[in-house]
Amino acid sequence: MVYMKQSRLILPTGRVAPLARLGRALASKAYADAKFFLIVDENTYAHCLPEVVARVAAFEQAEFVEVPVGEECKSIEIAAQVWQTMLESDADTNTVVVSLGGGAVCDLGGFVAAGYKRGVRNINIPTTLIAMADAAIGGKTAVDLGGVKNPVGFFKMPDIVCVDTSFLDTLPDAEVVAGAFEVVKTAAVADADLFRSLVDGASACASAPVVARVAEIKQAVVGADPNDHGIRHILNFGHTFGHAVEAHRAAAGKPVSHGVAVGIGMALALRLSVLKLGFPRDDYDRYCRFLTKYVDFPRFTLRDTEALLALMRNDKKNRGGEILAVLMQRLGEPVINIALSDNEIRDTFLKGMAL
Ligand code: GLY
Repeated sequence: MVYMKQSRLILPTGRVAPLARLGRALASKAYADAKFFLIVDENTYAHCLPEVVARVAAFEQAEFVEVPVGEECKSIEIAAQVWQTMLESDADTNTVVVSLGGGAVCDLGGFVAAGYKRGVRNINIPTTLIAMADAAIGGKTAVDLGGVKNPVGFFKMPDIVCVDTSFLDTLPDAEVVAGAFEVVKTAAVADADLFRSLVDGASACASAPVVARVAEIKQAVVGADPNDHGIRHILNFGHTFGHAVEAHRAAAGKPVSHGVAVGIGMALALRLSVLKLGFPRDDYDRYCRFLTKYVDFPRFTLRDTEALLALMRNDKKNRGGEILAVLMQRLGEPVINIALSDNEIRDTFLKGMAL
């Protein structure tokens, strides 16, 4: 059994704002000699850093480095530049790397912290919905290499994840919609009532209580399987199809965000769940209604289908040559490692949402 210390989650619940609580935590003895090194991108530099520095006294003397926006920051070269900057500013083993940004900045920051002087502490302050609900929690870090996403990385549990939904006010609507699908995904695998209230429009995916609940669910799943050997796979619901859709659309010059691709992937996985595992039809229909409010479901041709199948064969989660997916018996009852045949996958893309 591998022991991995869990992160402290500071959630947007209660009367004291999350950043104020982070400020208090960093004023404690555990951080008495710490030097903080903040990683920001152009957006968080402009829209989030001033607020964070104003509210967290420990950051007044912090160094910061700006990295490219989005996936572009996740490279060995950018990681090396950050390490170089840390060396030049005499960062020692008491340094705490603080990632202020979306999933890409948190992935990079964790990677940098895991490698610097054989490992220094890190803190995530996610600023996008997708990062608050998923990417910033759980210690998966990685950079991209040779056009492949995330082949090199470490498990590096952040000391603290500070989730402050007020940052969502600075985000474009499309970013919030993209994040909403990861929120719905987590609800689907763990909380049927929350799922129904989100897709029926009774609760907002980006509201503080919903984000806090989803962050807690993610933390609990990670706690049960920190190294991703089993139960944590449930968080990949919608991703086997979703990753293929994301890569295929990007190659076709019609990119969709990761979140939207996962939203489409969830519809495909739920349709298969109805057919293979008897997932209730009414919950499938309510999800499809939710999805199509925000996304034009793509029509996949025969040629697309072969390309998508090839992409799915390359998924790093497959084992022994089989394409594996997470399907659902019922809301809150995911089943991992369901092997799918090539014909089932072709049929799934060709039929789309139709049953
Ligand atoms: N995003 C899935 C996981 O953290 O395991």
